[in-house]
Amino acid sequence: MVDLTGKVAVITGAASGIGAAGVEVFVEAGAKVVAGDVQDDKGAALVTRFGADKVAFRHCDVTDPDQLKALMQAAADEFGGLDVLWNNAGSGGTSSTVEELDLDGYDFTMDLLLKSVFAGTHFAVPHMVARGGGSVINTSSISAICAGYAPITYSVAKKAVAHFSKLAAAELSKHKIRVNAILPGFIATSIFGASLGLPREQADQMAEMIAQAGATMQPAGRTGQGEDIAQMAAFLSSDQAGFITGGEFVVDGGITVGPPHSWNEELGGPILDALGITPEQAEQMAEAMRGGQGS
Ligand SMILES: NC(=O)c1ccc[n+]([C@@H]2O[C@H](COP(=O)([O-])OP(=O)(O)OC[C@H]3O[C@@H](n4cnc5c(N)ncnc54)[C@H](O)[C@@H]3O)[C@@H](O)[C@H]2O)c1
Repeated sequence: MVDLTGKVAVITGAASGIGAAGVEVFVEAGAKVVAGDVQDDKGAALVTRFGADKVAFRHCDVTDPDQLKALMQAAADEFGGLDVLWNNAGSGGTSSTVEELDLDGYDFTMDLLLKSVFAGTHFAVPHMVARGGGSVINTSSISAICAGYAPITYSVAKKAVAHFSKLAAAELSKHKIRVNAILPGFIATSIFGASLGLPREQADQMAEMIAQAGATMQPAGRTGQGEDIAQMAAFLSSDQAGFITGGEFVVDGGITVGPPHSWNEELGGPILDALGITPEQAEQMAEAMRGGQGS
């Protein structure tokens, strides 16, 4: 079990999904957490659940730098300092294609997913310097490395978040601040429903449906859960990860190892498909070949 005893962490997007799992995992590991989000009811419920001596909540829209600055200050005010910042808040952003070019949507998405990471890290640095170091974790996505998982603007922002993590790791190493990115795969959260514009309650219900429906999408044989990502974030926050900085950590149940036919033997694969040969016919042909070689 990772040990975060004595550490104070700020987690953004902490009211739901991956961030909410983060609050749970970090508190279990001994950390005190300042949770930031725009969903105030769910944030207040976190404080009730874990206790005000372990969790504080602040309304924080990460697109507003002043609110991010106040969130970092809250860690100092509530718990005496700041050791860990997990920049995690996000949504799907604009679904605009290149041909459609929704520039307002582009600006909104970049502000939410990228500028917030720059600004959040900026405001965390003085607090971490005062503690003699720290750990910044940024939630990127497998959409940073493959097409087909998310809209283009979101994916570009997440790629930039991963690269920011590497460059900031270099810049901030003089302060003993480590910076790493996590690239989650398909995780059963409300983000998919929320990105479709569903009310939050329905989006939350959709997260449960995704957990069932997505089980066969990756070699792991189950859909990812927020806790899968939170465990990686907790490790990267800990002193056990003291040698790890500038890294990009894919946590995806293997979904990016290759297309489904590469790990699911029941699927024929694109070459057989193109030739119109079923997996059964391919097996018969192979059997006939083996028989021919043996005679
Ligand atoms: N779920 C996945 O499959 C997946 C995959 C890769 C990356 N991610 C990333 O993980 C992070 C967390 O998403 P999730 O899947 O837990 O979704 P989620 O919708 O369950 O949680 C996201 C949280 O961010 C908050 N948020 C949105 N806009 C905000 C803003 N302007 N200011 C502050 N908080 C805001 C929401 O209120 C919500 O509580 C996001 O950055 C997302 O892009 C998710």
